[in-house]
Amino acid sequence: MTIAVYPGSFDPVTLGHLDIIERASRVVDRLIVGVLNNSMKTPMFTVAERVELLKRVTGAIPNVEVRSFGGLLVDFAHETGASVIVRGLRAVTDFEYELQMSQTNRKIAPDVDTVFFTTNLEYAYLSSSIVKEVAMYEGNISEFVSPEVEQAIWEKIKSSEKKGSL
Ligand code: COA
Repeated sequence: MTIAVYPGSFDPVTLGHLDIIERASRVVDRLIVGVLNNSMKTPMFTVAERVELLKRVTGAIPNVEVRSFGGLLVDFAHETGASVIVRGLRAVTDFEYELQMSQTNRKIAPDVDTVFFTTNLEYAYLSSSIVKEVAMYEGNISEFVSPEVEQAIWEKIKSSEKKGSL
């Protein structure tokens, strides 16, 4: 049985991430989407909210599970019994960073391999930050995220405006 982890910040999950999740779930037995509790970034959504959104958009895929994690990715892989890390490559600019990460991970955990999926061209330009930026200026984000995520973004922006943050 092949178990894989697909890690990321997912703040929030985009259609680009979903494309990778759907494709990866077809080639492994179990795919665990790992939401990083990343203190380096200032997120729009809490980890719990990101996990919840991911659960909602992946609910129809039976072999996908969503969890949060902190610390080293390879430790999370070991904890879940995963032997594969899934990452998406959007453009050549992702390559250097991904190569460095996968080589470091392999050095510290030789039993865990990284497998790359090339992102669907339709989403090659997409990132969570770009989606949030377009939304801040009230642009149309319906082609970047699923309807439940879109609604969550609008609600978050509205409640932040009320509080005077963002
Ligand atoms: N479609 C759309 N957007 C995508 C995408 C895709 N297929 N793939 C990546 N992105 C975007 C993300 O939305 C994110 O955008 P943002 O910066 O605007 O938020 C950006 O690309 C970065 O991707 P993401 O995967 O979210 O995070 P990351 O590259 O910062 O972190 C981890 C990746 C979680 C794998 C890494 O930080 C990690 O392993 N951390 C744990 C600590 C550890 O083990 N460190 C040692 C590693 S060598």
